[in-house]
Amino acid sequence: MSDDELVGMAREAMERAYAPYSGFRVGAALLSRDGRVFTGVNVENASIGLSVCAERNAIARAVVEGASDFEKLAIVTDPTEEPTMPCGVCRQVIWEFSHDLPIIVESGESRVETSITELFPRPFTSYRS
Ligand code: THU
Repeated sequence: MSDDELVGMAREAMERAYAPYSGFRVGAALLSRDGRVFTGVNVENASIGLSVCAERNAIARAVVEGASDFEKLAIVTDPTEEPTMPCGVCRQVIWEFSHDLPIIVESGESRVETSITELFPRPFTSYRS
């Protein structure tokens, strides 16, 4: 699957975001090594702190379907001047499954290629020795 195809799936998913409070839509498309793609959108709630990001929803869907070995993640958001990077919580959750996942972020006209290695260089691992 090409990067453009994966980004296209994230863009399409973004249309289904449930974001009535922030008005900021996010879509994610997570490519599994077995070729399957799992999409996610942000799902907000009147109790604002309960909102869940698109990235974590994509990961949750993948895990439910038995996928946990990932090749690439595409994130598309509503337009912003610079590409909107995944939040800290999502970085921790992505890192749980891959320490070197390539990540493409597109926000309107701007697109950047990065990785979880670059975005999350000093993760929390575990308190157990
Ligand atoms: N959001 C995501 O979906 N992913 C992120 O990495 C950052 C923020 C969502 C959460 C909320 O619904 C909206 O963007 C505004 O914060």
